[in-house]
Amino acid sequence: MTVSPMRLICIALISFVFFAPSTLSAQNNLAARPPMGWNSWNHFHRKVDDATIRAQAEAMVSSGMRDAGYTYINIDDTWEGERDANGNIQTNSKFPDMKALADFVHSKGLKLGIYSSPGPKTCAKFEGSYGHELQDARTYAAWGIDYLKYDLCGLRDQMRAAPTPEAANKIMVDAYIKMRDALRSTGRPIVYSLCQYGNDAVWRWGTTVGGNLWRTTGDISDHYAKMAEIGFSQAGLSRFAGPGHWNDPDMLEVGNGGMSADEYRTHMSLWAILAAPLLAGNDLTTMTPETIAMLTNRDVIAIDQDGAGKQGDRVSAEGPIEIWVRPLADGSKAVGIFNRHPSPLSTQVDFKKLGFTGGVKAKDLWLSKDLGTISAPYAVTIPGHGVLLLRVSQ
Ligand code: GLA
Repeated sequence: MTVSPMRLICIALISFVFFAPSTLSAQNNLAARPPMGWNSWNHFHRKVDDATIRAQAEAMVSSGMRDAGYTYINIDDTWEGERDANGNIQTNSKFPDMKALADFVHSKGLKLGIYSSPGPKTCAKFEGSYGHELQDARTYAAWGIDYLKYDLCGLRDQMRAAPTPEAANKIMVDAYIKMRDALRSTGRPIVYSLCQYGNDAVWRWGTTVGGNLWRTTGDISDHYAKMAEIGFSQAGLSRFAGPGHWNDPDMLEVGNGGMSADEYRTHMSLWAILAAPLLAGNDLTTMTPETIAMLTNRDVIAIDQDGAGKQGDRVSAEGPIEIWVRPLADGSKAVGIFNRHPSPLSTQVDFKKLGFTGGVKAKDLWLSKDLGTISAPYAVTIPGHGVLLLRVSQ
């Protein structure tokens, strides 16, 4: 849905006037840092079942990902069955016992996430939560669910039938508030992940409906062009993120095979600078050592999870070379020098333009190499579609 800037301002004002008073009580003290984990959709799509989830949980531990900070094992769409005579949501035959599955995932020191829609149907046309929000939240809590991705999809039919964009927006905002309140009423800590593809500038009001994270774009795919379109379009959104409420440019594709190693390093580096949730979207049971090394790079994860919780942003774009900087809690900065061109390019980095004076100390995070003191202008060659990711301090 496209909404004019004037209408957006009206919607933001209306949202503020009506929903701001509930903002303080909306905080659930979760997601102090961007959530890390795994989600079934990017790799398995509809082919996800109980055995898949158990295998992914085991692989998350044996690969070292859990110890690197990955926590959530998130089941996406297609787990849902019909409702019983009392309206309680049932799992379908792929998930015979969700409580037992949650117990298993918890026994591995991990947490379990689930998926639903505020509409009558999910994107894959399974049962949504419309009219059953409280009941579903209670069911999730009874199963031991720790994270809910709430995907707009099926509610869009009602929104399209609304007389004005403002009325459509209210249908959506009300639906997200309804589930926020339902989750809160269970007393169980459940991370609340909004998924409505960034419509109506969700970053401006996602916090007021209790979102711990919100998708800022449409779906990612395992291609450089789509990943880059999404990732580099995040410029300007940094001020909307912070501890407990994050911009979500969608799940990772690292390890799914559609990009080169340099392109996947660009993906991870950009997501880390963006303080994005790191939700792996590959098959954790068949990872190459290179994929494991990328996903568990401690220095890169430290950028993503930095305690200051300040999202980075683009500071310059000269042709295909973009420099993005994220300020970090210890006063240093993550500096990503990206080459969006398919062939290698050389450039010079002037650290003065990035807020430093004189010589700087730097570490190359993908080479795990301390570069010592470097002085401007620093000449670098960046591989095609690649990145040089530095941690720079004065
Ligand atoms: C939408 C979401 C995806 C995924 C699918 C599942 O497209 O954006 O991330 O959850 O629905 O049907």
